[in-house]
Amino acid sequence: MGTYDWNAKDYEKNSLAQQKWAGELIAHLNLTGVEDVLDLGCGDGKVTAEIARIVGDGSVLGIDNSAQMIALAKEKYPPNQHPNLSFEVMDAGDLSFAGCFDVVFSNAVLHWVKNHQRVIEGLAKSLRVGGKICLRMGGKGDAEGIIAIMNALKASTKWAPYFTGFEFPFTFPDADDYRVLLKDAGFSINRVELVPKDMAHDGKSGLEGWIRTTWLPYTQRIPKEQRGAFIEEVAVSYLAKVPLAADGKAHVAMVMIEVDAEKPILLVARRRSNGAG
Ligand SMILES: C[S@@+](CC[C@H](N)C(=O)[O-])C[C@H]1O[C@@H](n2cnc3c(N)ncnc32)[C@H](O)[C@@H]1O
Repeated sequence: MGTYDWNAKDYEKNSLAQQKWAGELIAHLNLTGVEDVLDLGCGDGKVTAEIARIVGDGSVLGIDNSAQMIALAKEKYPPNQHPNLSFEVMDAGDLSFAGCFDVVFSNAVLHWVKNHQRVIEGLAKSLRVGGKICLRMGGKGDAEGIIAIMNALKASTKWAPYFTGFEFPFTFPDADDYRVLLKDAGFSINRVELVPKDMAHDGKSGLEGWIRTTWLPYTQRIPKEQRGAFIEEVAVSYLAKVPLAADGKAHVAMVMIEVDAEKPILLVARRRSNGAG
């Protein structure tokens, strides 16, 4: 179903950084244990399962447009062992829920989506009145160091033939643009903020793992037999500019946009009659 061929098992093993960031976001939700939660773009499901453990008297549905990701999530978290947790293949642009969630959570997903208006309108419909969204995705200026390397390589004699007709695949929104989208969909905004964040990978191989498992719009253009060489070249070129830290970590400067908003209780203003007709 999804546009890219995610390797769910490889992602599962190479997404510690995303999992760590998701943990921060979950803590920020202040869940009480009874909420019904939608995890939008749940990937391999490990973060979704973490939320399900917290909302023991509620439920969590993880959706993702990658059939591979959902297949792995279903295999790892079967309903007989995780009765309040379920997974479904669904695109973020095709949400068809009507007022059934208290919280929509989404970590590291929506920069993959072009039409955010459609998603935000779907989220507004999916939530109960008073429900909230907590989204974190790549924002304006995200991963510029890696993108600069990708741009240089895709223009090089060696790799350019594989990038004919390439269009920048991600949407990295600005806070002001996002505020407009949220307001138009009727959300009451608590916070929309661009947040610089350091992403740390375990050395060159950790960096390669991240590039291999998430930079699919670039890597999947390269024939399989040359893909490893391309990924290594990205990592080597990046580390030549941003060397490994003393503790062996590869650091990437990221910029996230974080969104906290609520579906407000609608107050229907009634015109008071003054008896004059
Ligand atoms: C970097 S992973 C994040 C997974 C998970 N949220 C986490 O924190 O580990 C991005 C996920 O977004 C999913 N995705 C991308 N575009 C999507 C869309 N339009 N609808 C639903 N899921 C999408 C991908 O299939 C992938 O599983």
